[in-house]
Parts: sequence; structure tokens; C-alpha cells
Amino acid sequence: MQYQKLITAFCFHSLFILFVQQCQLTYAGKHLCARDEAFYLLQLKQGLTVEPYAYRYDCDSEAVAKTLSWNATRDCCEWGGVTCNGFTGHVIGLDLSCSFVSGTINANSTLKKLGHLQRLNLAFNELSGFPLGNSISQLTSLTHLNLSHYGNMIREMQIPAGLTNLSKLVSLDLSWHFTVGLTTFRSLLQDLTNLEVLLLDNVDVFENINELPKNLSSSLRYLSLQGTGMFGNITESQIFHLPNLQVLRLGDNPSLTGTLPNFYWNFSKSVLELDFSYTGIFGKLPDSIGNLHSLCYLNLLYCHLSGSIPESLGNLTAIRELTLSGNSFTGIVLSTISKLNKLVRLDISSNHFQGSIPESIGNLTAITELELSDNSFTGNVPSSIGKQNKLDSLYLSSNNFEGSIPDIFANFSELHTLYLDNNKFTGPLPYSIATLTRLELLYLQNNSLTGSLPSNISGLQDLRNLDLSFNYITGVTPPWLFHLPSLSFLSVQHNQLTGKLPNELKTNYVEYLYIDLSYNKLQGEIPYWMFSTSMDSLDLSHNFLTGFEKQVWHSGSLRYLNLENNFLQGTLNQSICDMISLEFLILAHNNFSGSIPDCLGNSSSVISILDLRMNNFHGEIPRFLPTGLEYLGLYGNQLRGQVSRSLVNCTSLVALDLGNNKLNDTFPIWLEKLANLQVLILKSNLFYGPIGDLESEFPFPELRILDLSFNGFTGTLPSSLFKSFRGMMDLDEENTGITQVSKSNDTDYLYHVSLVIKGNEYDMRITSIMTSVDLSSNRFEGDIPKSIGSLRSLVLLNLSHNSFRGHIPAEFTKLQQLEALDLSWNRLIREIPGQLSSLTFLEVLNLSYNHLAGRVPIGKQFNTFPNDSYCGNPDLCGFPLSKECGNNNESPLEHDDSDDDSFFMSGFTWEAVVIGYGCGMIFGLLIGGLMFLLEKPKWYVNFAEDIAQQIAAKKRKRQKKRRQRRGVRMN
Ligand SMILES: *[C@@H]1O[C@H](CO)[C@@H](O)[C@H](O)[C@H]1NC(C)=O
Ligand SMILES: *[C@@H]1O[C@H](CO)[C@@H](O)[C@H](O)[C@H]1NC(C)=O
Ligand SMILES: *[C@@H]1O[C@H](CO)[C@@H](O)[C@H](O)[C@H]1NC(C)=O
Repeated sequence: MQYQKLITAFCFHSLFILFVQQCQLTYAGKHLCARDEAFYLLQLKQGLTVEPYAYRYDCDSEAVAKTLSWNATRDCCEWGGVTCNGFTGHVIGLDLSCSFVSGTINANSTLKKLGHLQRLNLAFNELSGFPLGNSISQLTSLTHLNLSHYGNMIREMQIPAGLTNLSKLVSLDLSWHFTVGLTTFRSLLQDLTNLEVLLLDNVDVFENINELPKNLSSSLRYLSLQGTGMFGNITESQIFHLPNLQVLRLGDNPSLTGTLPNFYWNFSKSVLELDFSYTGIFGKLPDSIGNLHSLCYLNLLYCHLSGSIPESLGNLTAIRELTLSGNSFTGIVLSTISKLNKLVRLDISSNHFQGSIPESIGNLTAITELELSDNSFTGNVPSSIGKQNKLDSLYLSSNNFEGSIPDIFANFSELHTLYLDNNKFTGPLPYSIATLTRLELLYLQNNSLTGSLPSNISGLQDLRNLDLSFNYITGVTPPWLFHLPSLSFLSVQHNQLTGKLPNELKTNYVEYLYIDLSYNKLQGEIPYWMFSTSMDSLDLSHNFLTGFEKQVWHSGSLRYLNLENNFLQGTLNQSICDMISLEFLILAHNNFSGSIPDCLGNSSSVISILDLRMNNFHGEIPRFLPTGLEYLGLYGNQLRGQVSRSLVNCTSLVALDLGNNKLNDTFPIWLEKLANLQVLILKSNLFYGPIGDLESEFPFPELRILDLSFNGFTGTLPSSLFKSFRGMMDLDEENTGITQVSKSNDTDYLYHVSLVIKGNEYDMRITSIMTSVDLSSNRFEGDIPKSIGSLRSLVLLNLSHNSFRGHIPAEFTKLQQLEALDLSWNRLIREIPGQLSSLTFLEVLNLSYNHLAGRVPIGKQFNTFPNDSYCGNPDLCGFPLSKECGNNNESPLEHDDSDDDSFFMSGFTWEAVVIGYGCGMIFGLLIGGLMFLLEKPKWYVNFAEDIAQQIAAKKRKRQKKRRQRRGVRMN
């Protein structure tokens, strides 16, 4: 806003004078002030409240309450804000803008008696009610009235009709906080025949632009109607027939539509500024735009314009500020724009422009802000940009620029923002960047930069944000990275930095410091300062770090700590609990040992993500746990004993992964009350006994992943267990993928799924919710509950290696989302229900080693399963088995099986592990699915590809339906 005013002033000198120079006629002599007028002014002052030392952000910091100097012992012409006529002594100007006055100037105020008043400015105060109401019409000499930002946000403040009697008005500014009736609005435009300047920004008007009066006042030069609720088709509006218009601002009126008319408007020669930003105008930019020879400001930000930019744009040689961003413009534009050598600010980002940057761009030597981001520009960046040494911001993000970044920054003494991220730049960081003394923001992420960082820098004293992530930068981590005095954000993740971290931090501003050095090759110890300064977020995951400079951690501000996938060892010091702001503690995949400190469960703890998987923790799960836990990952340790009963207080818990320990307990049936629990993994422990009796009416209402495999559970499955797993029933396709947990606004935490294929573990991040039940390798017995059929969105079901008897429930045909079904190594009898052939998504089926009999169903999916899906069932016959079915309908025999356990580890197993991963902008909770594993590498590859696609799709919009996707894959 300020900036626009500045540009206006630049372009538009005469109006600038009109607005600002109000105090030229101050009289220097003595006692010329008319006594009665001084009295009226003092009366006016008495009726108002002044807060002399208040602060208003939109006023100059040196603004003072001008009425403070109003004192009867001095001549009123010397009072602040008062202007007198030098000959007559009459008060002709009153400027109380930014004077911290509140109250009401009502119809009885003596203000109306200042009959010679020509200029009245009450802008930027806290007044209420329109000054003088209808009696404003008594100020008959008034030529300039400024009531913008006049009071508090009361839209109902009506503009009185009396205003339209002020026939000498030349300039009227009512921006913000008023409402103008349609009649008054039309009258302002029509009856005030001397009006040159009218600003009604953010005033409620709600007028159809196509129905303005036919005889608009021809004196209008400056018309600003931004955010007034104007609507309708602009194409043939009367406004374009105003003969003297120089400035037209219609921005922020999204209901204005239509195409831009050809610029043969009456005012086309004199027009200086056009603003149609955030309107609904569409279509092409007409060729005739080149007729606007005087135009110095054009703003078309976020309209619905398209097509290519006409060559004639190059005729707008007076233009200083050009904004075309946020449209759908196409084609090659930069050589045309390079002719506009007065440009100070150019923003054409977020369009579909193409081509490379021509050398001629160097002609734009006045430019301070150049924004080309988010287009399809290609090629090298020419070194002629180096001539633009007045640049303060350069944005080239998200294009296809390639080659090395030219070493042109040595003369850029003003540059404070440099965005080169998300391109294909190669080669090393140009040295001259490190000399920029004013640079505050430097973004180079997602390129292919190589080489090492400069070992010494001479600039960057002001650098606050530095992002070098996702490049191929090598070499030793230079200490200066941590000695930038203004640093607050540093991301170098996913590079190949080596060496040790410096054991000193030298920055001025360490509050909310964000450091991400993950996915590099850093070695040695983690320096003490990382746990003692006012850091907010620290990610050192996926490096080769081996220890800590000191085992004492006491950063009171650290919220996010991720050290996973290093070689850290030793025990966890109690001081970890001194990090009282910690919400994310991720230490997975290290060699930590000892017990998990009990103090983590202190009532003051705010930890919500606690990921200690794949370490060597011993002992028991702490008796108390942070009650705000959303994720607890203890997979792959040596924990013994029982599941901590305090988990029942963790009502926000979403995922609990206790797999691969030595826990010795019965099924934690008491978790049934956790209304948010989606993932429960107990696999590979020493759990025993039956599932037990459910108490809740709706046990485990959100559960989507249940893995009890490789334990010693016994007994029959309570059929009520599956009746309430709402999370596995009719999963709303639109709602899958992300469960928003709003608590933490700047960190993504993605659950990983790891697949074990014959002993190899693969970590995969999953973006769509998969659902699975794995009860394999236990000693469950009895019938398979028919109620499993109600889990209509179940994707994976594994009941193998148990002692289930009876037949395969025909209700399984309701599992229409099922992709994999493993019932092998049980004691199931009778025929395979033919209806199972309706499970169109079923890709993997294993029924081997049961006592099934009769003909294998045929048709649809069943034509795709290999014969090892059925082996070990001697009484099955028909395709794909070699045994043909005779005519004699043998009734299947029931065998009593011997112990299966010798086949326990047949290499056919699947499992899920929920693995943590951190960092990003939103906290998304992504639940992954589990898969069967068969010797079907092709199928596995498909799955992995799907995941990659899903991640990409999520980034775009995540709207594709799973059903469609699968349909495509099957074809
Ligand atoms: C007016 O100003 C004089 C001199 O500056 C001062 O002595 C006097 O108190 C002031 N009167 C008021 C009412 O502020
Ligand atoms: C103005 O003064 C008259 C007479 O003193 C009074 O009746 C009226 O209510 C006043 N109006 C306002 C708006 O204060
Ligand atoms: C706007 O008005 C023009 C001229 O009258 C007409 O050609 C065009 O179709 C109208 N557009 C819309 C969206 O109404």
C-alpha cells in the first residue's frame, strides 16, 4: 500500500502535490487569527478525547497529538494542524490526521462555524459518527475532505447525503469504515462537478459497474473503488468513457467480470495507473494496451486472464510497475518486457510463460524487484542480470533454469532476497553470493548444486534464512554456517556434507533457531550448544554421528528433536526431561541402551511424538507416560514386562508400536477405550492368553491397523471385536490419507510402514490409509468370526499359522477392498466359497496347508492365482491345480492336523512397522498399510510404485479415488 502510494507519487506528480502539500500558506506574522475561530477550535478540542502518547501502527512513529499545542495564549494560526489565510487570517485548513483523537463531532460542534475551511483532514483517528452529520453541508468552502481510516471498524457509519451539497469539493477520501448508499454514491459521481479525486476503498457500495449514471462528472481524474463490492460486467462500463481519468483502481472486487475492453477509451492517452487485481476479469490482454503511452502502473494480479501477451506491451515505455502474476498467461514475453527500461518492479510469477531469459533483460537497470517464479522458463540465467545492480529482490524459483548460477552478485549492494530454488541449476555456489552484505533470505533448495561451500565468507551479516537442501553439496561443513550473526533458519538436509559440527554457535538471535542437517554424512559428536541454546527445531537424522560432546541436555525452547538413524550410543540422561518444550523426540535407529527415563512421564511433559524404535533399550516401559502422546514407537528394543497401564490416560494416542520386544503380558484390552487409536502393533513379543472380554460399547472405534502376529495368543476370537472397528468400515475415500492434527503447525510427521520380505526390511512412507488385520502365527482356534465380513474397507487380512477350524466364511465376500488374504496353515475345511471370485481387488491369495476340498472357484481374480496359493490341500482340484476334478462328488474329509510349528518360519510372512519421520509445514498424520508378502516381486514393485505416485498425487491434490486408481492398474 505504502509502496503503491510511492509509485503513484513517482508517476503522478500533480496529484501528489494535491494530496500532501496542504500547509503551504501558514502565516508567519502575529495575531491574525480571528478570535471567534480560535474559540470554535478550542470548543472543538474540548469535545474530543485526546490520547497524546497512543500508538497507531499506520501512523508515522513521530506523529504527535496536534491539539496539544492549542492554547489560547498563542495565535491559533500557529497551532498544530491549523492553516490560515495569510491575508485574512481565516482558518482555511485543519489537519488532525494521526492525532489520536476519539469521540464524536456531532451536528452541534463548532467545527461547522469555520465557514472558510477549505481543507479538512481527520484521517487515522478513532472517531465515530460522520463529522457534523448532514450539517457537513454548511462547510461550503470545502475543497478537500479526507476521512480515511477515520474511526473504528463500524461499517454502518453512513455517509450523509448532505455531503453531495459540497459543490466545491475537488478531493474526497472516505476509504475504510464507511458505508455509502447507492443514491449518495451516484450523486457523488454525478453532482460534484468539480470532483477530481475520489477514494472509496473498502467502503461498502455494492453497485453494478454497468449501471453507473450516464453523465459522470467529467472532472474525475483519480477513482479508487477497491474492495467496494462492485460487480457486473466491466466491458462497456461508463467508467471507460471518463475523458480525464488518470488513475483507475478497481482491485479486490472478485465479482467484477467480463473482458478488458479495447483501450480506445477516452482517457487512454492520459491514463497513469490501472489496477484490476483480484477481480474476475478474463480473456486476453488486448493488443490496444499499447496505446496507453503514459501508463506507469498496471496491476493484474490474480485475475483470470490467459493467452499470450501482445507485442504492443513493449510500447508502454513509461511503465514502472507491472504485475501480471497469478494468471494463465502463456508464451514468450521477456524480450518484449526487456524494452520497458523504466521498470522498477516486475512480477510475472505464477503463469505459464516460457522461453529463456534474453541478454536484453540487462536493460532493466532501474529494477529493484524481479519476480519470474513459478513459470516454465528454461535455459541459462544470463550474466547481464548483473547490470541490474539496484535489485533488492530476485525471484527465479520453480522454473526449469539450468546451467550454473552466474557469478554476478559482487555489485549487488541492495539485494536482500534471493530465490533460486526448485530449478535445475548445477555447479558450485557462486562465490559472489557469499559477499552479499544485505542478503536476508537465500533459497537454493531443490537444485543440483555440487562442489563444496566456500570456506570463508565476507558478507551475509544479515542472512536470516538459508536453504541449501536437496542438492549435491560436498565437502566439510564450514563453521561459518553457524556463525552467521542473524541466522534463524538453516536447512542443508539431503546433501553430502562431511566432517564434524563446530562446537560453537555465534549468532545474535538464537530464539526459535531452526536447524536441519539431516541426510548428510556428518561425523563425530553433537556439540553441546545444540542442547543449550534457544533452539526451536533440530534435525540431525540420517548422518553418521556417534555421540554427544556432553550428555547434558537442557534447552528450554527445543520443540522438535530428531536424531534418528545415526550411531549414537549410551544411556538417556535424566536431563532430557529438562527440555520442557519438547513435543517431538525422535531417537529411532541408534544404539541407545539402558532404560527409558521415567521422568518422561512427568505431568508437565508436552511430548506428543516419542519414537525410540530400533535401539537397545532395556527394562520396562516407564510406568508413567506423557498424557499428550499421539505416537509411541518402541519397536525393536529389549523391553520386558507389561504394557504400561498409564497408556489408558493417553487419550490422544493415534499409534502404538510395541513390536519386536520381549513384553510378557495379556492382550491390553483396556486400550479399547482410546477413541483415537488407529494403529496397534504388538507383533513378535511374548503376549499370551485370549483376547479377553470387551467392555466398551464401541471398542477400538478408529483402529485401522491391528498386528498381533508372532505371539502366543490363544482362544477363540470374540466376534464382537470386529463389530465396531469403524476405521475399517466404509472408509470415506475422500477423507483417507491425512488425519489433521492441528496441535503442531510446522512439522509433518509421517508414519512409515516397513515391509519385511524374507528378512529384509523396507521402510516406506505411505500416504493413503490402508487397513489391515494380522493375527498370524499365534495359537488362535475355533471358527473365523463371520463379523470380519463387516470390515468393508479392510485391505489386508492375515490369519495364517493358527489353528482356525471350520470353513471360510462366505461373509468374506463383503470385503470388497481386500487386496491380500492369507489363511494358510490352519485347519479350514470344505470348499472355497465361489463368491470370493467377486473380490475384484484381490491380488494375493494364500490358502495353502489347510484341509480344503472340492473345485477351486473359477473366473475373475481366481484365474490369476498360481497353484501355490492352494498347495497342501490334497482334496482341492481343478485349475490351476494339476489334479482334475472327477465327477464323483467326494465329500471333503476332515483331518486332524499335526503340529504346524515346524513350518512356522516358512519365509512367508508380512508385518508392519510404524516408523517416524519428521519435518515440513503441516502436521499430517499418514497411516500406512500392511502387505502380504509372497514371492511376487512384480506385485511388490507395483505396490512401491503406487506409494511413490500417491506421494506425488497428494502434493497436487490428493483427490483421485482409490477405486479409479486401482481400476487403471488392473487394466
Ligand atoms: C498555554 O501556554 C502557556 C505558555 O506556553 C502556559 O504557561 C499555559 O499553562 C498554557 N495553558 C494551557 C491551558 O495549557
Ligand atoms: C444540539 O443542540 C440542541 C439544542 O441545544 C439539542 O436539542 C440537540 O439534541 C443537540 N444535538 C446533538 C446531536 O447533540
Ligand atoms: C460483457 O459485455 C460484453 C459487451 O456487452 C459482452 O460481449 C460479453 O459477453 C459480456 N460478458 C459477460 C461475462 O457477461
